[in-house]
Amino acid sequence: MEDIKDSNENSCTRNILVILGFSCVISVIVLIAVGISQNKPLPQNVKYGIVLDAGSSHTSLYIYSWPSEKENDTGIVQQIEECQVAGPGISKYAQKLQEIGDYLAECMEKTRDVIPVSKHHETPVYLGATAGMRLLRMESEQLADRVIDAVIRTLSTYPFNFQGATIITGQEEGAYGWITINYLLGSFFQNSGWFSGISEKMNHEKTFGALDLGGASTQITFVPENHTMESPENSLQFRLYGKDYYVYTHSFLCYGKDQALWQKLAKDIQVSSDRSLRDPCFHTGYKKVVNVSDLYKTPCTKKFKRTLPFDEFQIQGTGNYEQCQQSILELFNTGDCPYSQCAFNGIYLPPIQGNFEVSL
Ligand SMILES: *[C@@H]1O[C@H](CO)[C@@H](O)[C@H](O)[C@H]1NC(C)=O
Ligand SMILES: *[C@@H]1O[C@H](CO)[C@@H](O)[C@H](O)[C@H]1NC(C)=O
Ligand SMILES: *[C@@H]1O[C@H](CO)[C@@H](O)[C@H](O)[C@H]1NC(C)=O
Repeated sequence: MEDIKDSNENSCTRNILVILGFSCVISVIVLIAVGISQNKPLPQNVKYGIVLDAGSSHTSLYIYSWPSEKENDTGIVQQIEECQVAGPGISKYAQKLQEIGDYLAECMEKTRDVIPVSKHHETPVYLGATAGMRLLRMESEQLADRVIDAVIRTLSTYPFNFQGATIITGQEEGAYGWITINYLLGSFFQNSGWFSGISEKMNHEKTFGALDLGGASTQITFVPENHTMESPENSLQFRLYGKDYYVYTHSFLCYGKDQALWQKLAKDIQVSSDRSLRDPCFHTGYKKVVNVSDLYKTPCTKKFKRTLPFDEFQIQGTGNYEQCQQSILELFNTGDCPYSQCAFNGIYLPPIQGNFEVSL
């Protein structure tokens, strides 16, 4: 991209001298005039980037910008626009692939208007899908591939520099959440002055942990006291702004709020002989019909599956906090732990460390 820009500038320089005479000069004068009349400094050379966050329950589009010349060697990124895609998450389009184009169109058209046309071709677009697509891939790799292919075809039709659409791993999701939280809270810059070397060992006290509750998964990520971790798959290491970070992360698939509810319903209907399920987690008087084939479609309810003598059942809320809490706790197996310490379901968890920031 830099090469393209530079060669454009070079050819513009030549054009001034040889062919176009004064049109470049005129535009410079116009720019200066605008700058003076608005009493503002000339606009910096700004770059843009587009990220689509394809969550399990919905997709959001974010537009970022940053000055192309890094200030003091550190890129300051700003979010300049956010667009919520109307509709559910992309995994729900597995059976209607032809609708994905329309689904993304509104936000992508808005993006065309926000980013100056001259920057379109150099503006990267990237889509990352999370646990909703991880679950669809567990159901059917072919269906998940088709959804991603349809997304790629759609995003490639726009004039931006399409960089890819992928299902990110739970580790990546945990790491990105942690980096975002700590970037926004300024953890990476607080000691960028002359005493940064001295406090290298104190990193864990100066970063926030991140607990990210999604629709299909939940991530926990923090810097533990001990660099050496018992479970390598929960260990991440990266270098940011000149410093090394050793991070613990885990993504609990099926423990986002929507999938946890499916799990609870499947567990409770397992022991019910009735078409109606009295549920303490819903308020008294609440009624809702649940489709059994929908309930068993997600891989998250597999371990509770049994053949039921009906296709639908009805939830009847009884509104009892203690009973609800008891019922929810049954989804967390805290018995077996192959490590010195576990979160639940046999997943390693080092001692919790640092301040926690909760993002929804
Ligand atoms: C960059 O460094 C200069 C001089 O040290 C300082 O005045 C300026 O505020 C810094 N800019 C940022 C964004 O930190
Ligand atoms: C750090 O981990 C090592 C190896 O697992 C262990 O022997 C040591 O006690 C741990 N230190 C702390 C402070 O937890
Ligand atoms: C349950 O949902 C499926 C689609 O997921 C549908 O085909 C089926 O007819 C529904 N069953 C009932 C009893 O409504």
